[in-house]
Amino acid sequence: MIAETPVLTVDALSVDFATPDGTVAAVREVDFELMSGERLGVLGESGCGKSQLFLALLGLLAPNGRARGHARFAGQDLLALPAAALRRLRGNRIAMVFQDPMTALNPYLTIGTQLTEVLTVHRGLGSSAARQDAAAMLGRVGLPEPVRTLERYPHELSGGMRQRVLIAMALLCDPELLIADEPTTALDVTVQGQIVALLRSLDITQILITHDFGVLAGFCHRVLVMYAGRIVESGAVREIFRRPRHPYTRGLMRAIPHLEQTPRAPLATIAGQPPDLARAAPGCAFAPRCELAEPRCRVERPLPRAIAAGATVACHLAEP
Ligand SMILES: Nc1ncnc2c1ncn2[C@@H]1O[C@H](COP(=O)(O)OP(=O)(O)OP(=O)(O)O)[C@@H](O)[C@H]1O
Ligand code: SF4
Ligand SMILES: [Mg+2]
Repeated sequence: MIAETPVLTVDALSVDFATPDGTVAAVREVDFELMSGERLGVLGESGCGKSQLFLALLGLLAPNGRARGHARFAGQDLLALPAAALRRLRGNRIAMVFQDPMTALNPYLTIGTQLTEVLTVHRGLGSSAARQDAAAMLGRVGLPEPVRTLERYPHELSGGMRQRVLIAMALLCDPELLIADEPTTALDVTVQGQIVALLRSLDITQILITHDFGVLAGFCHRVLVMYAGRIVESGAVREIFRRPRHPYTRGLMRAIPHLEQTPRAPLATIAGQPPDLARAAPGCAFAPRCELAEPRCRVERPLPRAIAAGATVACHLAEP
C-alpha cells in the first residue's frame, strides 16, 4: 500500500566532482518525492548520475565529490547530518545493495562472518543469536541450505546467490528504505527475473536503479528517467510505457529488445554519445542526439514541467 506521506523528499540535489580536467557535474538539481510503500525506478544510460545521486544521499561520495541541496528523511536533512549520524541511519533505517556484488562482499570472510557482523554491531546481538538470524534471513531470500551457506566464501557462490546474500545483508537491520543499484545487471535473464521477484515480494519502500527498461516494467510504480545528471521525465511506469513523452525516453523504449527479434537482428540504440559532464553546454543536454531539436533547444534549457497528474517532462515540445 502506498501512503500519502513522503518517506524521502529530495530538493535541488546536485553532485560535483573536482577533477584535473575541471568540475564534473554528475547530478544536477534533482527533485523528487518517494512515498511510503512505493517502489520507484531510476532509469538512464551508463554515466547519467544514477549511482552518485543515491551515494550522495548516504554520504558515500568519493573524496573529490560534493553534494548540495536537501534530502529530508525521517524529519532530518540527510545532506546536513554529521557523518556519525548518517552512518547510524545507513545501518538501521536505509540500506543499499551496491552495484557490484563481488566488491561489496569481502572475499576473505565467510558469508556468516559478514552477515553476523551487521547484527552484532548494529543490533547488539550475541554471536549464536546473530547466526540464527542470519541463517533465517538467507532462507527468506531464497538461498538453499542457509546454514551451510554461512560457512562459505563469496567466490564459492554464483552471481545470483551473491546478490541474494547482499539483499539479505541489507534486510537484516529491518530498514524502512531499500536502495538497490543495478541488482540484476550481471545476471542471466532467468536469475534476473528471480531477483526482481524477490525484491517485489518485500513489503518495504524501495528504489531500483537500472539501465534496463524491461526490469522496471513489472516492478515499479513510478519511474524517474535521468539524462546527463538531470531528471528528464517522471511518472507512473504504466503511463510512461504507454506514452513516453521525452524524446530520450522514447529512444530508450525503442532500444528494448523484442521477443520476436532474431538473435542476429541489431538492437536499436540511440545514436550519438552522452555529453561530457565536465563541459556543460547551454540548452537541452539531449539536443545533439535529438531528432526533434529546434534552434531554441540549443540555447534554452527545458525545465521539468508538470504535464499530467504526477508526471513531469523536461522538453520544450512536451504537451499536456
Ligand atoms: N570520483 C569521481 N570523480 C570524477 N567523476 C566521477 C567520480 N565518480 C563518478 N564520476 C562521474 O559521475 C558521472 C555519474 O556517475 P554514476 O556512477 O552516477 O553513473 P551511473 O548512472 O550510475 O552509471 P552506471 O549505469 O554505469 O552505473 C559519470 O560521468 C562518472 O564518470
Ligand atoms: S528540448 Fe528540444 S532537444 Fe531537448 S529533448 Fe526536447 S525537443 Fe529534443
Ligand atoms: Mg551506477
